[in-house]
Amino acid sequence: MPVPVILDCDPGHDDAFNILLAAAHPAIELLAITTVAGNQTLEKTTLNARRVCSVAGIRGVPIAAGRDRPLHAPPRIAENIHGDSGLDGPGFGEGEPEVPQDPRDALTLIRDTLLAHPAPVTLVPTGPLTNIAVFLLAHPELAARVERIVLMGGSTERGNTTPAAEFNILCDPEAADIVFRSGLPVTMFGLNATHQVRATAEVVARIAALGTPLSGLCVDLLTYFASRYREVYGFDAPPLHDPLTVAHLIDPSLVSLVRAAVTVELNGTHTRGATVVDLHGVTGRPADTEVGVEVDTDAFWNLIVEAVRVLGRPS
Ligand code: BDR
Ligand code: CA
Repeated sequence: MPVPVILDCDPGHDDAFNILLAAAHPAIELLAITTVAGNQTLEKTTLNARRVCSVAGIRGVPIAAGRDRPLHAPPRIAENIHGDSGLDGPGFGEGEPEVPQDPRDALTLIRDTLLAHPAPVTLVPTGPLTNIAVFLLAHPELAARVERIVLMGGSTERGNTTPAAEFNILCDPEAADIVFRSGLPVTMFGLNATHQVRATAEVVARIAALGTPLSGLCVDLLTYFASRYREVYGFDAPPLHDPLTVAHLIDPSLVSLVRAAVTVELNGTHTRGATVVDLHGVTGRPADTEVGVEVDTDAFWNLIVEAVRVLGRPS
């Protein structure tokens, strides 16, 4: 049986590839997409989700907009990485994307989807955790309908937006704190894992060789993403963070996991938004979070290339 999934995202170049992977792979049943302010404003991330689905021929998956700002923190975007549109690089054209925005808000769509699905559903957040935290607070009675939460965020090591904090967690540390302490099973793929999956020139060449309009668009996305990572971080190739979540659901052996207590720093003068991951059990806190560690990068890229190939086929 495919894994039923709701993606909660802020596309975003790497979020876009996660949408493609979830839609393309038969091991995943993509039930809904919800958007949140993060890499860009809510208006732009929602438009981007619709654009990605439109160009990739993804139909019948409702897309609803969620929160336009963090719970308490001031809004923050990652324009330096994802550009003014949030998905800079390819030309999407000026017109409205074919795929519409669902009239419901993200909370209502998540609620309706959980209630309608016969089995518990996996939530896959790859942006700030605002929508998920608000949902868990608003609907504690639906917690049993959530199978688990598999998220991209944090790190066992250092940050990328401050020396200590990763972008998704830093954007809304209070929301992240609610999610990590929710009592639901949480699996975290942080920078320590996602920095292993770099879109090298070889990877980009494999996607280009598919020779479809979609593969061309993906190459444009990766080329822009690479230029930003080169300039901002001095990386030779950009890490495609978010799809590690869905790749793990497709193939649980793709990333090794350890169990650890994870707490979110809410107060630190220089460390707010850091994920404090107790890898050695020194705090005595229950090791209740699964944390991604070692990635089979070849298997990861095979999944990504195959997703672009499958969705790029003429229908
Ligand atoms: C995370 O932040 C965003 O820029 C990416 O989409 C990813 O979810 C990486 O820190
Ligand atoms: Ca993201």
